Amino acid sequence: PIKRNNVYSPYTIRCSNIQLSDPNYVTIFDTTLRDGEQAPGASMTAKQKMDIACQLAKLGVDVIEVGFPAASQAEFDLVKLVAQKIGNNMDEEGYVPMICGLARSTKEDIDRAWESLKYAKTPMIHMFIATSDIHMKYKLNMSREQVVKRARSMVAYARSLGFEHVRFSLEDATRSDKEFVYHIIGEVIKAGATCICVADTVGCNLPNEFAQLIVDIKANTLGIQNVILAVHCHNDIGLATANTLVGICAGVRQVDVTINGIGERAVNASLEEIVMAIKCRGKEVLSGLYTGINTKHIFTTSNMVEEYNGLKLQPHKVIVGVNAFTHESGIHQDGILKNRGTYEFIPAEDVGFIRATEHGIKLGKLSGRHALKIKMLELGYNFEEKQLGDLFWRFKSLAERKKNITNDDLRALILDETIQP
Ligand code: KIV
Ligand code: ZN
Repeated sequence: PIKRNNVYSPYTIRCSNIQLSDPNYVTIFDTTLRDGEQAPGASMTAKQKMDIACQLAKLGVDVIEVGFPAASQAEFDLVKLVAQKIGNNMDEEGYVPMICGLARSTKEDIDRAWESLKYAKTPMIHMFIATSDIHMKYKLNMSREQVVKRARSMVAYARSLGFEHVRFSLEDATRSDKEFVYHIIGEVIKAGATCICVADTVGCNLPNEFAQLIVDIKANTLGIQNVILAVHCHNDIGLATANTLVGICAGVRQVDVTINGIGERAVNASLEEIVMAIKCRGKEVLSGLYTGINTKHIFTTSNMVEEYNGLKLQPHKVIVGVNAFTHESGIHQDGILKNRGTYEFIPAEDVGFIRATEHGIKLGKLSGRHALKIKMLELGYNFEEKQLGDLFWRFKSLAERKKNITNDDLRALILDETIQP
């Protein structure tokens, strides 16, 4: 571990291509393969997960949380394989991701984590324990004192095995007593935790409360300035992205995300949303924050995850859905055809987005002459807008009856054939 400018950074491995001491650098902790795979119906084969891990490395995530080594032999084997192969594969810029595995705060889980992760150049253990009264009473059947004692001793145990990077998550932190939160964090830091993650496990916080929690933790917790502070937000009321961003504004520099936002119940914060928010507004609104993600690989990575886990992306999914860079209404299409910046503030090329049609316009009942002219041009018919005349009105009448206008429909319109809706 190194400390520069008083900012603790475990990312020595990335030294050569980013300024690690830079407090503006936000590290991306990808949990697609662990929390993402916990999404109902999202299980993937070991080969698919290995492919995704390779793709995540290409994308440039800082940490890949591969799985939960104590959960099964298959999980253990995959974590070990990723640690051996991807966790040692340094690129020409000196980048190699940290490889991480989840563990409950028990010796058995921590042993399994070490046995599988120790092969990586930079292994990280992600330990957790629940800190809310409801979890401690009904799930753990432990008192606050017992929880603190367990957390402290297990963090020390993980360090004693050889883990230099011990990330400790407070499960259900957002429903926990604040004084208790400060206390347990201070204790695990004393025991050797290098990163503290605040989890909004049930996704219940509003952005203002979540930001306040981070501010309060920073103000009231002993030793917090010596560790990385992270957040892990779920999306139960649609606020995972917002909460993660306000966390960053409040000083968090590591964020837990998944590709396409897949995850438990109503999902996790999505990598593409957070990364593009930072990329597009980081300079202006987020005081110069940036990530190490090569955003041109986002669309391919998203497609791979969608194909492998079988969870179909909604067409209007932010950044990566088919509609994200497609326009159907006349005013928007006209603007886009003159200058894409009129209605696309993120350049599609920045995320490697491949449009289903050349110009990203979809003809529909609200489309105008300009869009029809361009569409016709794509089909090889060069009409001036004013020449479209009757054809335009026949197109409008068809679009009132038919949602998806195909190229064959347009050709038939030119030949004035009757079209069956
Ligand atoms: O949602 C959650 O609390 C988790 C923890 C393991 C961090 O996934
Ligand atoms: Zn989670």
